[in-house]
Parts: sequence; structure tokens; C-alpha cells
Amino acid sequence: MKKINARELCQKYRQFFESQDHKWIPSSPLIPEDDPSALFTSAGMHPLAPYLLGEVHPLGKRLANVQECLRTGDIEEVGDTYHHTWFEMLGHWSLGDYFKEEAIRMSYLLLTEKLKLDKNRLAFTVFSGNKNADRDNEAASGWLKLGVAEERIAFLEKDNWWELPGNSGPCGPCTEMFYWWPKDQKPPQKFNPADSCWLEIGNDVLMQYQKTGPGSYQAAKQKNIDNGTGVERTLAAINGFDDNYKTSIFWPIIERIQELSGKKYGVDKQITRAIRIVADHIRSAVFVIADGVVPSNKEQGYVVRCLLRRAIRQGNLFGIKQEFIQEAALAVLNNQQNYAGEYPELGVNKEKILSAVSEEEIKFERTINRGLREIEKIIEKMKPGQVVSGEQAFFVYESFGFPLEMIVDEVKEKGFSVDQKGFKTAQEEHRRKSQTAAKGRFKGGLSGYSTKMICYHTATHLLQAALKEILGNHVSQVGSNVTEKRLRFDFTHPRELTKEEISQVECLVNDKIKKNLPVNAVVMSLNEALAKGSVTVPGKSYPEDVKVYCVGSLPEKVRSSAETASLEVCGGPHAKSTGELGRFEIIKEQSSGSGKRRIYGILK
Ligand code: ALA
Repeated sequence: MKKINARELCQKYRQFFESQDHKWIPSSPLIPEDDPSALFTSAGMHPLAPYLLGEVHPLGKRLANVQECLRTGDIEEVGDTYHHTWFEMLGHWSLGDYFKEEAIRMSYLLLTEKLKLDKNRLAFTVFSGNKNADRDNEAASGWLKLGVAEERIAFLEKDNWWELPGNSGPCGPCTEMFYWWPKDQKPPQKFNPADSCWLEIGNDVLMQYQKTGPGSYQAAKQKNIDNGTGVERTLAAINGFDDNYKTSIFWPIIERIQELSGKKYGVDKQITRAIRIVADHIRSAVFVIADGVVPSNKEQGYVVRCLLRRAIRQGNLFGIKQEFIQEAALAVLNNQQNYAGEYPELGVNKEKILSAVSEEEIKFERTINRGLREIEKIIEKMKPGQVVSGEQAFFVYESFGFPLEMIVDEVKEKGFSVDQKGFKTAQEEHRRKSQTAAKGRFKGGLSGYSTKMICYHTATHLLQAALKEILGNHVSQVGSNVTEKRLRFDFTHPRELTKEEISQVECLVNDKIKKNLPVNAVVMSLNEALAKGSVTVPGKSYPEDVKVYCVGSLPEKVRSSAETASLEVCGGPHAKSTGELGRFEIIKEQSSGSGKRRIYGILK
């Protein structure tokens, strides 16, 4: 059978869901705009949060797409055959349209008829029920009706319940689809989800409840379906591979690493694991940098730094002596068949990516020595028989990107040992904290658009309109970010704003606020929106039909500033009227790179 690539898989998925009346929507950037609650887009549903909460989507109630995602929560798992940090998620949604039985039918047809996966290798989990919510017999009977054997359905509790932290938001059971991956083994008739030979490839979240408090749910007004289907895993399954790294997504990177290291993939367990880590992390770093991030000690920049350093260290440990990270990145960038069509930013930013990864490698070479010195310092203070504590070892691991094995080796050479158990405890503690933080961060995406943030978002529209009016039409958005406390807006403009200009902009925004203008969303074609003079973000791709947020009255033709305060293509949500905003003040105006300015503004 001819092997297919990631783009061909996505095409098949798209065809299938278009045949089921879904609209294909553009994917969102990896770095979420206007959402300070998350560092990275972590699921296809993430950018769709406003619509899952009830906003009207301009393309209707049945949507599908492919979304690039990044999750750091699973980083310790990377090295096996199927966990990744960056990955692509196919997804489809029903926003208050079809529900459980229909969703299950579609998922089954997709897997068995469109993707032609062997029915005998499929199994499903459904929610077992608990004291707060009923067992999901409806989902189970949905699968049974399609001919799935009873033994291939397992009931689980926690794994099949989906909700976000916090006391509100949509939630409900989910039903997951599993594939038996060992090529040369027949699947057992009875499905045991704890057996790692069964691999989850897709998930239908069935949002039938609304959370009203801890463990307290009521029937949702709008019932949604949120499907996520992993591209890497599904691709491996349909191509008959028992390892994601053997697909054309990863294989060119693996081949390059083999050449650079002189080590073979699939021979030694430890080395194979390390090769996978290098391949996974370098791919992730390339995609994050392609979205405009550079390695640093902050937020997304820190994540890229860790990914690169981990990759470099692993590479060095199994035998790559020379600088290699640029070569590995090139293998990702050259993987045209899997990426070029979907991710033009890779081509556009190729040089930038290559120099960023190589600079980081050079910087890390310096840190390695500092890390080694840190180990020496720890040891100098120790008396014979003492042990390097878990915290100390974890500090070196965390600060200098040293793997535990390397710390142990170094320490051993000096005649000491490391409390490895203590290290695991410190690491576990750290992971627990960062996962809690990550969950907290994701929460905002769906349930956390506070009134304050919504007001800041609306103020950003007024600000952009005012900047265009005072400075000229060359002003366009480069970046935008709102929190509970302020807005930050980056835009194109060649020079510093004068005091005069700043105060004119403030006055104009406050004038629109005082008039208490209505804010309305109207769905129209992108062409019509542009013809009316709607503002868009340059370089961003939009669907054919878009939602336009209008502050003031909607113009018949091109907007005239007298009646229309702002007209902008945007997903929302927004304040109902400008009077809710309060008084606007610019607290800082500064450069944000060549030809770009940044404004911080607050509402009082
Ligand atoms: N949003 C669901 C997930 O991430 C589909 O699994």
C-alpha cells in the first residue's frame, strides 16, 4: 500500500467532514493572540473557545480544521513511540448542532470507511458514571449500533470526563477511540485500556453539561461536540507503522541524526529513545521559532530554550560530537511534503530559524561549562560520605539543562553519589506545580474571559481606530494582548509618538467611550468586510465569511468616522457598549522593534 503523508491525511479528513456539511476553517497561530491565559495553543478547540461558549461562528455550526498544538505537560513521556511536544490535531465541532449518536457515527465512518482502519483493531472507552453524573449508556449504545462488539467498549471514570478547572464552563463525558498498534500481533478480543498496545488516536468530547460549582452540573443550553484526532498517531496507524517516528513526518530527521551520530535508530533502547527526543524537540523548536519566538528565559522563549538544550544534550550524550542542531532543523524545514503547503512560515522564516537554533547551541556550550562548575562547587562543600541532594541535582538539571544521568556521572567521577530518589521527588514537585500552572493558564481560554478582559479587548479596537485616525492609515496591528489589568498593542509606525499625539489618541478613545456606542457583531463575506473598510490583521488568513465587530453604526459603504467608531474582523467577545469601559489612559509608548511601536493602556 502506498504510504501517505500528513497533508494527505488532513485532506482525507477534510473531504470527509465537508461531505458531512462541515466548513473547513483556518487554523490559528501556535502562540494565541489576545489570550494571556495560555502560552501555546494546546488543542484545536482552544481558539474556538468563544464559540463553544455560545458566540455565533460566521461559518455556522459544523466546523473542522487542523491545528498545530504544543503541550509541555507530556515532555517526560517523549522518547516513546507516540508522545510529542508539538503535534497536529485534526478536529471537528458541532456548536449546538448534531450531538452524541451522530458524532459517534461520523467518527466511526471516518476511521473505518474514509481512513480504512481495520475494524478489528479498534476499541472505545466511554464514561462509567459517578455520583455527580450518569453513566454514558447513550455513547456505548452509539458504538454498539454501528456493530462494535461489547468487549471492545470499556467504561472508565476519570479518563472519560472532561472539564476545565474553575466553577463554570461547558463540560461532559468523552468517548475515546483506540487502535491496536502491534503490527504482528492479533488484538485480544477483550479491550483493556490499560494495555499500552492500545493507543488513543481520537477523542469526542460530548459537552452536554454546564458546570455550576465543584462536582455540580446542569444540562447545557448549547450542547457541543469537540473532536480531536492526533495526526502523528493516526498517520502511523493508517500507514501500518508501530512507531510515529517511522512515518515520513519524522523519518528524514531520524536519518539525518543517524548520519551525524553514526548511531542506528532501533538498535539500542537508550539511544533510540534519545534520537526520538532530539527529533521531537527540534521539530517543536522549529515551529515555535517560525511563529516569531526566540529562545530566552521568559514564557514561550524559555520553552524553546529548554527544547533545544534538551535536544542538544541528548545528541551529545549518544555520540554527536560536533554542533548539529542546525542540520537537524534543516531536516524539518526541508520536509516539504508534510509541511510546506500548510505552514508557509517555515519557508519565510527559514534563515531566522536556522540562526536562532545555532545561536542557542553556541550559548548552551557556554552554559554547559557553567553547569559543570556548579557541580564542582556543590562537591567542594561536601564531606566524605555525603550525598548530593535531590534539590541540588534538580537545580543543576533545571538551570543548565543537564540530564540526571550526566549529573550522576560527573558526581561519581569525584567519588560521590546523587540522591536520585530525591531528584525524582523534586522533579515531581516541580512538574505538579507547572502542570497546575499550565491548567490554570488553559482555563482562561475557555471559561476565563472576564468582564475586565472583554473591556480591554474592546478598548483595543477603539485604540487601533484612533491610531489610524491620528497617525494615518499605515498603522496596522502587529500584536495584541490583553490581561485583567491592561492592554498591550503593537503596531506599525516609523517613529516615537509625540506627547500631543498620545493625548489626541486618548481623547478620541475616551470620546467614543463617553458616547456609549453600541458594539455589534455582523457576519459578512470577507470581501464585503474589506469593502466596508474593516480592519484585519495583515498576514493572518481568514475564512470566506467573517465576523465583523462594529462600534457605533454599521456603514452601508466604506466606514465614515462620524458614525462608525471601529470596524474590525474579530472573533470576540466584546463589551455590549462602550460605556462599560471606563476612562482610557496610555501609560507607556515605546519601540517594539524596527518600524514598530508598542502601547500599554489601562482602563480606570
Ligand atoms: N479537546 C479534546 C482533546 O484535547 C479533543 O483531547
